[in-house]
Amino acid sequence: MPSFKQTFWKVWYQYLSRRIGSDPVTFLNYGYWPPEGETIKLQPDDEPNRPAIQLYHHVASGADLADKNVLEVSCGHGGGASFIKRYHKPKTYTAIDQNSKAIETNRKTHAEHGIDFRTGDAQSLDFPAEHFDAIVNVEASHCYPRQDAFFKSAHRVLRRGGHLLYADFRTRETAFQLDNDIADAGFKVKTQTDITEHVLAALRRTSERYRNLVHTFAPKILHPAMETFAAVEGSGVFNSFVNRERIYFSYCLVKEVN
Ligand SMILES: C[S@@+](CC[C@H](N)C(=O)[O-])C[C@H]1O[C@@H](n2cnc3c(N)ncnc32)[C@H](O)[C@@H]1O
Repeated sequence: MPSFKQTFWKVWYQYLSRRIGSDPVTFLNYGYWPPEGETIKLQPDDEPNRPAIQLYHHVASGADLADKNVLEVSCGHGGGASFIKRYHKPKTYTAIDQNSKAIETNRKTHAEHGIDFRTGDAQSLDFPAEHFDAIVNVEASHCYPRQDAFFKSAHRVLRRGGHLLYADFRTRETAFQLDNDIADAGFKVKTQTDITEHVLAALRRTSERYRNLVHTFAPKILHPAMETFAAVEGSGVFNSFVNRERIYFSYCLVKEVN
């Protein structure tokens, strides 16, 4: 039986997908602004999504994905899947999310890129063991009631030597649990990076756009909650990154050969 937390996020994201489904919002993350000199060259159509794309690029660059079989867990509205398929050139790209409404829309929006979009639960990945060369997971695991089950399931479906490329935030008090879950699942940490400052730099650039979006699609009574959810400048979530009550991490994890 799904927990309250799982049902809450399912209903919330389906609501969002319904409300903003006709708007080209293909990313649902806080973004990343890289250090000087690490700017990726994008096609003009991708420029409006630069901050969110840069987060995907930062995460995906942890391993060479060219000609690999890649799974994305919690792909949201599929913008990251489309970016990685076009720029990092994996052989196959499978992308799952528990939000069936988003998966249905993704199949139409990103139809030309040959991505296999499926509905699925991150905590019990429905694929054979050792099936993928790499797994991508961006800003989603904080929603999972059983984060330990996600890391174990990801470890099972990765081939030996395969990578889990991961980014998400935690409160200062729960960050240790993330490291425990990663270690208990059997992953070796290749890199762990605190990217909070880079996420804040992106949020400062996107706040106006997301505030306007919230005011366009959400009823007035929901504006404060939505602004916090979107972490716009001045909101509780934004401030929690500034004062480091929340920390945003990226990891490159490896399933060891032996
Ligand atoms: C903040 S959004 C990030 C989406 C996407 N990775 C991005 O960066 O644009 C979090 C996503 O996690 C998904 N999600 C939450 N719980 C899930 C679960 N148990 N299994 C699969 N997906 C889940 C939500 O439906 C949502 O699409």
